[in-house]
Amino acid sequence: MTDLVRLERDGDVAVITIDNPPVNALKAEVRAGLLAAIAAVQDDSRIGAVVIRCAGRTFVAGADISELGKPAMQPYLPDVIEAIETCPKPVVAALHGTALGGGLEIALGCHYRVALAATRLGLPEIKLGLIPGAGGTQRLPRLVGPETAFAMVLSGEPIGAEEGQTRGLVDAIVPDLDAAAVAFAREAAARGQPPRTRDRSEAIAPYGADPAGLDALAAKHAGRPDGRAAPPAAVEALKAAVTLPFQEGIARERALFVALRDGPQSAAYRHLFAAERAAMRLDLPASVAARRIGRAAVIGAGTMGAGIAACFANAGLPVVMVDVSAESLARGRDTIEKTWAAAVQRGKLTAAEMERRRALLTTATELAAVAGAELVVEAAVEDMAVKRDVFAALDTIAPDAILATNTSYLDIDAIAAATRRPGRVLGLHFFSPATVMRLVEVVRAARTDPEVLATGVAVARTLGKVPVVVGVCHGFVGNRMLRVRTTETERLLLAGALPYEIDAALTEFGFPMGPCAVGDLAGLDIAWRMRKAQGARAEIADRLCEAGRFGQKTGRGYFRYEPGSRTPIRDPEVEALIVATSATLGITRRPFTADEIVERLLFPMVNEGARILAEGIARRAGDIDVIWVNGYGFPAYRGGPMHWADAIGLPRVRDRLTAIAAETGEASHAPAPLVLELAAAGRGFASVAS
Ligand code: COA
Repeated sequence: MTDLVRLERDGDVAVITIDNPPVNALKAEVRAGLLAAIAAVQDDSRIGAVVIRCAGRTFVAGADISELGKPAMQPYLPDVIEAIETCPKPVVAALHGTALGGGLEIALGCHYRVALAATRLGLPEIKLGLIPGAGGTQRLPRLVGPETAFAMVLSGEPIGAEEGQTRGLVDAIVPDLDAAAVAFAREAAARGQPPRTRDRSEAIAPYGADPAGLDALAAKHAGRPDGRAAPPAAVEALKAAVTLPFQEGIARERALFVALRDGPQSAAYRHLFAAERAAMRLDLPASVAARRIGRAAVIGAGTMGAGIAACFANAGLPVVMVDVSAESLARGRDTIEKTWAAAVQRGKLTAAEMERRRALLTTATELAAVAGAELVVEAAVEDMAVKRDVFAALDTIAPDAILATNTSYLDIDAIAAATRRPGRVLGLHFFSPATVMRLVEVVRAARTDPEVLATGVAVARTLGKVPVVVGVCHGFVGNRMLRVRTTETERLLLAGALPYEIDAALTEFGFPMGPCAVGDLAGLDIAWRMRKAQGARAEIADRLCEAGRFGQKTGRGYFRYEPGSRTPIRDPEVEALIVATSATLGITRRPFTADEIVERLLFPMVNEGARILAEGIARRAGDIDVIWVNGYGFPAYRGGPMHWADAIGLPRVRDRLTAIAAETGEASHAPAPLVLELAAAGRGFASVAS
């Protein structure tokens, strides 16, 4: 045994306890301890049955993710599980918390599974670009049938203990993991030779002669190919559970798992897993604590304001939504209530929970209603004068509250300066639709107090968001880089690419939508008005707007749309307009390959990311990656723009940027100093510490 695994006796039942905080991840020492414990009980004639349980907040939550990128260490998990399953005494997994990944695989290798009612059970490997690699895809279908196994493995979503019991995954729900689990094990011993999961065939047998049934399950749960390597591998492994003998299925699963584990996609997901958690850590002195927020206020009942208010109510926090216009308030409230009602319809929300949320959300037309809120989130119009007025008024109305602005572009230092307490002002930049998008940029202004920053991060977590701390600059991190991509899209259109080619290149790369379709969805007129106000021009986008092509809302933008449809269709009229615009500007067009399009759009963005990092606007490259994956659809399996650039190698990024700069004559395309420095030193963005 090791310090991390204890073996105790309760009469004739051996109790093996894994104790590896915080989540009992299966690092090598834990695996070794388990193997030793099983060997010890096997030869102990006093022992009739075994319970495997965990100390702390959860049963094993999976393989140790930090070990996955390193050379594999013995003993391997499949061998540990083999020892458990072939143990001649009944082994009972006593589950609580989240039995995930390798944790659930251990439980599947046990002869019985008992669980506390609140336990969640799942195989989340797909979310890390992996498949279960220790028998999960072979044993789960034998217990619960292929239908449930496909659903669980391909979604990665856990199920509750009760559902687990209905589906055959959980044998009993127990009130405690001590006496009740031990009693269960003792009774099991009395029943005699325990069933082994590997020998059970009743659930998979009907599919054995039904390859079409398996294909239908694959089509239903894996969806269309989207660049991810794990879903097709999961399908192959799950099919093997039905079509191959157990040992051959296990070998197939392991080979598929190892290939994924050692491949670039799972490295990208592991990077994001660590980056998301690092982004939440503030490294502030221990004396700095987040303030408790018991009541919030949101100013503005437009799309963003209503969405943000809904986030608070969804998280169980009372929130008042304030807007000078009673009409906007009614509309905002109506939109929120419709989403709740739709969730009830789909069975995602209970009627009682909807009522609870409705009661948590109040509305008011007077700013005075925010008095008593500990946090005020301002989501009024994007106008500096308006925001400064609101913030100044809040000084008297809510003198102790933390004041957050949801501005996308405005200078938060200037907004903070309108108050007598700039230390208590910060940005909380949500993304639309606020109830769906996980990202929140937590903007630290020049004078934001550490305690206020910590509160911003904590509140975002309470709302179930992924907070990333950024500094003040135009567009912060996300929109500042998006602006680069938008500019490059326009340049590329002028230089020779067409909208459908640009969008195809980026969707092939893994974005859910191309930049032209995104523009059409958001509405091209917004940026057009902003440019007009600033005296700026984007020839193609402006000409589209001048022709009344504002995007989907007018049925025509970079593409055209059939009434009631959101599918972009190539429009010869637009393509002629683009070609003519290039000619007018004296630009000789040339064709671009998909790879070139990707480089021309994304390398300048990476270059901007390097500047953002050098300026300290983002603390780490991983923060930028978390922002782009969670807020802008950058494919997670590529790890975000900075990780992607590191994976390509910065010398190549530098050389391509140099070549692009030579072709375009555009100074901003020249590699940023940080790119030059890191490339010369053979380092990547990941090595830059704040
Ligand atoms: N391996 C190593 N470390 C892990 C881990 C794992 N499988 N799962 C969680 N951790 C660490 C986290 O990095 C975090 O460390 P930190 O405090 O130093 O940042 C800590 O455990 C707590 O995790 P966190 O996610 O912040 O806590 P939570 O209570 O919100 O969620 C889990 C707990 C287990 C649900 C969640 O961490 C999770 O989903 N983990 C991944 C499970 C998984 O994918 N397993 C299969 C691996 S192949």
